[in-house]
Amino acid sequence: MNSKLKMAIVGAGIWGENHAKIYKAHPFCEVVAVCDQKKGKARELADKMGIPQAYENYEEMFKKCGCDAVAIVTPDFAHADIAIKAAENRKHVLVEKPLATTREDVFAMREAFEKNKVRVMVDLHNRWSPAFNVAHQSVEKGELGAVYSGYMRLNDIKWVATDMLPWAAQSSILWFLGSHSLDTLRWFFNDEVKRVYAVSREGLLKGLGVDTVDTYLTTLEFRNGGIAQMENGWITPNANPCVNDIKFNILGDKGMISLDLSNHNLIQKYTDEKVIVPDMVVQHSIFGVPKGFAFESIRSFVDCILSGEEFHVSVEDAANTSLAILAIMESARTRMPVDVQY
Ligand SMILES: NC(=O)c1ccc[n+]([C@@H]2O[C@H](COP(=O)([O-])OP(=O)(O)OC[C@H]3O[C@@H](n4cnc5c(N)ncnc54)[C@H](O)[C@@H]3O)[C@@H](O)[C@H]2O)c1
Repeated sequence: MNSKLKMAIVGAGIWGENHAKIYKAHPFCEVVAVCDQKKGKARELADKMGIPQAYENYEEMFKKCGCDAVAIVTPDFAHADIAIKAAENRKHVLVEKPLATTREDVFAMREAFEKNKVRVMVDLHNRWSPAFNVAHQSVEKGELGAVYSGYMRLNDIKWVATDMLPWAAQSSILWFLGSHSLDTLRWFFNDEVKRVYAVSREGLLKGLGVDTVDTYLTTLEFRNGGIAQMENGWITPNANPCVNDIKFNILGDKGMISLDLSNHNLIQKYTDEKVIVPDMVVQHSIFGVPKGFAFESIRSFVDCILSGEEFHVSVEDAANTSLAILAIMESARTRMPVDVQY
């Protein structure tokens, strides 16, 4: 590709704006168009970010805007139709996590990607987290021996479900954060989940007017014998100094690594309302340039399209993550162990 990579964005919400900032900051990328089904929203973002074209219909945008690749940054349940249409228009695709929230969508998307021979990455960004990546390098070097068991806790404060996401009740903490947990554990075990056993509780968020499950505790069994537990909830008190509550432990037969990413305490900010530990890892800005691993993954999509290198997250990674989450939901509903159907 001789000129800059031309990106288009579907979804001009919170995270769509971040995508726009990252593409604009990349020396070999430009944003040519943005689309949002809500009247005026794409135009607003286009004006704010200096994006030349704004649309309300993504099919029209794919046909007219001249983009090479599309970022799909719509709510969790609204990725599949857009991704399939992008592939049919021969656009490379970056899908925000999760890939899809139904089995039918997972298979339809895979088929469309293969048939149209487009390149696709899903933004399961934990692999770019410095702490997780360095820990993973230790595992790859064999410093921990054979991976034996793991634990991952990835929770959000209530505000994410009650205030940040207008569509929390149409999604689940398993899609919103559990997809990161599951992809991370699959990556560390270098294996697929065979069976899951999950329990859940609900009521706190329903009481606050958001009809979604509060929290899931899940036991995972991997095909090669590895076992892990993951915890995903969005009921951490709002006064928690970080939006996320992140703990991770991986145990091998020769060593162990533990991460505590929420309580890094590198900065503590005190106001009359609250103590805050500002995020310096996931997303921040230095002299106006977006930094942090949530942005690194998106930059990596651009770099890999331009260089022709393999993505660090494959469609299979994201598809198997979604299929395992569907099994977790079934297990939590039935209170029975469920084999993941691939
Ligand atoms: N990687 C990360 O760190 C990260 C962080 C936050 C959100 N996300 C993901 O990004 C996605 C979007 O989240 P958000 O917080 O920006 O949501 P949002 O509600 O702020 O924005 C979504 C936008 O998509 C638009 N939209 C919905 N359906 C559409 C359609 N068919 N055509 C065009 N526009 C449509 C909505 O009008 C809305 O403006 C979700 O999948 C979420 O999980 C990822």
